[in-house]
Amino acid sequence: MNPVARRLALFGHLLQRPLLRRRLRRVGVEEVDGVPLVVLPDVFNPVVFRTGTLLARTVATSPWAAPREGSRALDLGTGSGVGAVFAARRGHRVLAADVNPAAVRCARLNALLNRLEDRIEAREGDLFAAVAGERFDLILFNPPFFRGAPRDPLDHAWRGTDVLERFAAGLPAALAPGGTLLLLLSTDGDGPTLLTALERQGFTIETAARREYWNEVLTVHAVVRREAKPPVTVL
Ligand SMILES: C[S@@+](CC[C@H](N)C(=O)[O-])C[C@H]1O[C@@H](n2cnc3c(N)ncnc32)[C@H](O)[C@@H]1O
Repeated sequence: MNPVARRLALFGHLLQRPLLRRRLRRVGVEEVDGVPLVVLPDVFNPVVFRTGTLLARTVATSPWAAPREGSRALDLGTGSGVGAVFAARRGHRVLAADVNPAAVRCARLNALLNRLEDRIEAREGDLFAAVAGERFDLILFNPPFFRGAPRDPLDHAWRGTDVLERFAAGLPAALAPGGTLLLLLSTDGDGPTLLTALERQGFTIETAARREYWNEVLTVHAVVRREAKPPVTVL
């Protein structure tokens, strides 16, 4: 990515920050492809920050997100619940989890607003702790990309100390055999560390969707278990 473009984007972001903060502290109503979403204060806005929209569109259209019989999905770090709503519309039963209590309330609201409350359950918790012992056919994750201790509940959307490593360590137990993780990463942030950790855990990574902007590239990675090779027969 062009370093000049990146610097300009950062500068623009600094200028916009006071306006943006005011918008993020209010209740907002957004729409993703005709699907209404309420965004409560202190909850990541999936339209303003566009990553949530790209993940939702991938869930709506990609063969990687096609439901199997009785399919269960986990929307980890659900934020507004945008991924959960789109996964439920696609036919999955969904568990939406977030460490931010405002996000859990917001995901419940959006399940109700879209009449999907019988298909979406929302729980508060740190990564897989909220779903310990459960396995999912589809997992969605749009993680905090940057390193550092979150300063407030909303800041969990961008910053984490060891979230990426703990996510990679917990994934094998949470992904059902033949299941898929749809993982959204940007060229900004620490995505390569997570991809390397997942490859070390025995996962294969494909590209499910990609969107280029002038200052960053967003990719939705489809992460699946590497098929065990059949043993070689010595004759
Ligand atoms: C970039 S936002 C994505 C929100 C939503 N999935 C979307 O795509 O619009 C990341 C979300 O992960 C949540 N999060 C961060 N660390 C977490 C953790 N340790 N456990 C659960 N959720 C976490 C944040 O609170 C935030 O809602």
